[in-house]
Amino acid sequence: MLTGCKELLTLRGPAPRRGRALAEPGIVRDAAVLVRNGVIAAVGRRRDVARLAEARRARKLDLGGRVVLPGFIDSHTHLIFPASRADEYEKRIAGATYEEIARRGGGILSTVRKLRSASTAALKQRALESLRQMAAHGTTTVEAKSGYGLDLASELKTLVLLRELRRGQPLEIVSTFLGAHVVPREYRRLPDAYVELLVQRMIPRVAAEGLAEYCDVYCDRGAFTVEQARMILTAGRVCGLEPRIHAEQIARTGAMQLAVELNAASADHLEKINARDIRALAGSNVVATLLPGCCFHLGLKEYPPARKLIEAGAIVALATDYNPGTSPTLNMQMILSLACTQMRMTPAEAIAAATINAAYSLGRHTRIGSVEVDKDADLAVFDVADYREIPYYFGVNHCWMTIKRGSVVYGAGPKS
Ligand code: NIG
Ligand code: FE
Repeated sequence: MLTGCKELLTLRGPAPRRGRALAEPGIVRDAAVLVRNGVIAAVGRRRDVARLAEARRARKLDLGGRVVLPGFIDSHTHLIFPASRADEYEKRIAGATYEEIARRGGGILSTVRKLRSASTAALKQRALESLRQMAAHGTTTVEAKSGYGLDLASELKTLVLLRELRRGQPLEIVSTFLGAHVVPREYRRLPDAYVELLVQRMIPRVAAEGLAEYCDVYCDRGAFTVEQARMILTAGRVCGLEPRIHAEQIARTGAMQLAVELNAASADHLEKINARDIRALAGSNVVATLLPGCCFHLGLKEYPPARKLIEAGAIVALATDYNPGTSPTLNMQMILSLACTQMRMTPAEAIAAATINAAYSLGRHTRIGSVEVDKDADLAVFDVADYREIPYYFGVNHCWMTIKRGSVVYGAGPKS
């Protein structure tokens, strides 16, 4: 039994959250959570939970008057990559744009070159360190995309590694096949032949081996067209991989409308959407996954129109987009700060977007994303006096303990 929760944000109630419901965190003060076999058996005010016979017998863990949230669900990451691109960061600071660097063979393709020659052991070591840090920042579930292999062997290498990581460490990993990240160099003059390879060979193989749940396409200027994306995502769905889309990040191409047409699980980025796009999203079940870490890291002034999306009634989620090119952060607390300060989401809205709505985008909202009876005991404990201080005191880690399915996976160090 967890006691000493000064403030527990349960995020209880219907999911997903739209409009005003996004701002209702379901706070319980002086709360307790009773956990049985990794699942929440009771939750509520401490004196009510403490009266249960099972609570009297339970081992107690006192959280010392801290703030408790459902563990963060980071629903968009490129977890497996071989090295940073700090050199490009410096070039961008000097004035080069992300697209210019990509056109010169840098960008995603430079990471592809390195991943193809990297050993699984080296990739695994980096990924384990990233996952350890994610846990240390309050994340309990991570979506992870392939997409730096772009040939069958290297994509399989990435996805098999993700499967191994699922067993070898405590965080939950949801795999997405992003073979359609960009057209690899060897197909530069034959992009449609690469699409055919994806559709005919790579997607069926990934699905047959059970290596991914989702199929994603980077549908944008410099990557894949809407027509190509439709073919790839349709082929994925035929094989049982549900669609997600990188949409309208650099240019407005119609990718988001494709997401609605296909009833994709999620349309991500959305920096360049217009009023019609917002209406279409609001009338759909496609989650608008916003990635403000990209705008921050690329030094852009225009963030996605979060307020308009929320007010129109779209399902808004937040994620890091952890990757070496556009968003090298795995810290969801920083994403909350950016969402609040740059996109004018309230702290309560940002937290709902980073937990229950993110769970919905991964098809897991009945099991994770809120603190309710019969859900997994996935919790993040923060050393603040008020949940709003998590984004407010930005740029430091407030996470004091992280619990995944009832087990402490971070924290309880000397300072407790
Ligand atoms: O989500 N823009 C496409 N994909 C990633 C960036 C990947 C990279 O630059 O390595 C994104 O922003
Ligand atoms: Fe991405």
